[in-house]
Amino acid sequence: MMNEKKLGTQALWAGEKDQLVHGATQVPVVHSVSFGYDDMDEWFEVATGQKEGHIYGRNTNPTVQAFEDKVKILEGAEAATSFSTGMAAISNTLATFLYPGDRIVSIKDTYGGTNKIFTEFLPKQQIHVELCDTGDHAAIEKEVEKGCKVLYLETPTNPTVKITDIERMVKAGRAAGALVIIDNTFATPINQNPIELGVDLVIHSATKFLGGHADALGGVVCGREDLVEQIYHYREINGATLDPMAAYLLLRGMKTLHLRIERQNYNAQKLLSI
Ligand SMILES: Cc1ncc(COP(=O)(O)O)c(C=O)c1O
Repeated sequence: MMNEKKLGTQALWAGEKDQLVHGATQVPVVHSVSFGYDDMDEWFEVATGQKEGHIYGRNTNPTVQAFEDKVKILEGAEAATSFSTGMAAISNTLATFLYPGDRIVSIKDTYGGTNKIFTEFLPKQQIHVELCDTGDHAAIEKEVEKGCKVLYLETPTNPTVKITDIERMVKAGRAAGALVIIDNTFATPINQNPIELGVDLVIHSATKFLGGHADALGGVVCGREDLVEQIYHYREINGATLDPMAAYLLLRGMKTLHLRIERQNYNAQKLLSI
């Protein structure tokens, strides 16, 4: 577990500094869809990644970047990329890495939308899905050992709040050469940092605890840079981009993330002791 004090400060300020222009103390909402440069040479440098900057809103945006940077820092990840919803984050991530003939191992208790992807959509693309009983670590290990491209977990699960041992699953995934992906929506980066435990990619429905006010939809994936770059490329072309206004609301919500989760933890402990 990371230093509590640091997490609170990071939730408040991390990732914002680069976007604070004109002396603003809060990240501005940049609605502009296109970004201009003085000459074609500079545009070309930005467009080809030789120079920092933005070209077109489906690819990147300053407000959206601040949100991605904040999540990246809170999760201790190398890189992050965002989406219009949590489901877009999950479906785009799976679509980036899974091809016909591949095999994915997961659990039966993932969020309903994720379960639909496993039971309805992936099989149509000849992707083999093995769903194990949630919490049956030996069964998951057995299926992973048979070989799989992705081991996909959600812990705690929504809504059944079942727990999986992340370190044990990372060990199994590593041994099989699988990518280990975790939906960390319910724990939040305040309670759990799966990257510290060896997970390759962490997903959040930002719509839930990150935003915290039920007024903005969003999703985010963070983790190893080489993997996040591939997911970003899939998303920038396929288009499930996070809207700058939603990014602003999520950033504003995240300023109280640490306080809200601390209180939720306290309340839950109280209920447990009744
Ligand atoms: C654990 C979990 N993952 C993913 C999602 C999907 O997120 P969204 O509703 O932002 O698409 C949800 C939504 O409830 C969720 O609880």
